[in-house]
Amino acid sequence: MSDPIAVNQARWDEVVGVHLASNMYDMAAFKAGARGLHSIEAEELGDISGQDVLHLQCHFGMDSLALARMGARVTGLDFSGEAIKAARALSADIDVPATFVQGDVYAAPDLIAGKFDLVFVTWGTICWLPDIERWARVIAHFLRPGGRLLLADAHPFALSLDDESDADILQPRYGYFHKPEPLIFDDPSDYSDDKAVIKNSKTYEWIHPIGEIVTALADAELGIRSLKEYDALPWRLFPNMTEGEDRLWRLPAGAPQIPLSFSLITVKPG
Ligand SMILES: C[S@@+](CC[C@H](N)C(=O)[O-])C[C@H]1O[C@@H](n2cnc3c(N)ncnc32)[C@H](O)[C@@H]1O
Repeated sequence: MSDPIAVNQARWDEVVGVHLASNMYDMAAFKAGARGLHSIEAEELGDISGQDVLHLQCHFGMDSLALARMGARVTGLDFSGEAIKAARALSADIDVPATFVQGDVYAAPDLIAGKFDLVFVTWGTICWLPDIERWARVIAHFLRPGGRLLLADAHPFALSLDDESDADILQPRYGYFHKPEPLIFDDPSDYSDDKAVIKNSKTYEWIHPIGEIVTALADAELGIRSLKEYDALPWRLFPNMTEGEDRLWRLPAGAPQIPLSFSLITVKPG
């Protein structure tokens, strides 16, 4: 098998341009100051003005800059060079300062100095990481005493189901429990644009069950403050989902509702 992280990085480098041009990311609205965070993470966040925020897997910096617009001092990290280049350009374009660093999540402690009040990790992140315990130790490394992690992402139970099925009753497909070997996908489509054809179609991903995420963070000596589950998420995970005014996608009202996403807040004692 080729290096899964290098394969994923090539995919992410390629999709940056597609995302910048997509209706989903709606760059014009963002530049005009209109498009902020989704309600799920915004409601968990509270007042972050004056706080030091580390945004891991920041993509091209849209949410990092949304956090900066809320008054935070933001550092974003992503392994995609294309994403970091676009993030720096966006920051300059809208004149909202933030620091952007290229690198792998696991290398972040060697790349970024200092401690943070908030580590912010949202939407499509931990599925790219093979080792959730090592990830939790990275989070703990960066938090100052009293600092929080806010993680919001697709629910691993939803990720274990058949994502090509438009049936109201969804079937298991990938298995819920973590395996060291990745799930291998070969998919030229992109979640932000139905018409896009991605040349780097292969990706390697991992499912991390809720219990393992919470336990990894507890083992890294972070206290669990809240764990919430939601019937919505920011992209079309299953074909029969529809998008609401809040830019969140849901299953049809008559279908059995399952947890599609979750938010988790952990706090470093002290
Ligand atoms: C779905 S995007 C996250 C979107 C993000 N929430 C935002 O603010 O737009 C996933 C990001 O994770 C990054 N990524 C994936 N694996 C990574 C790794 N091992 N280290 C650092 N970044 C990684 C990708 O380059 C991509 O930008």
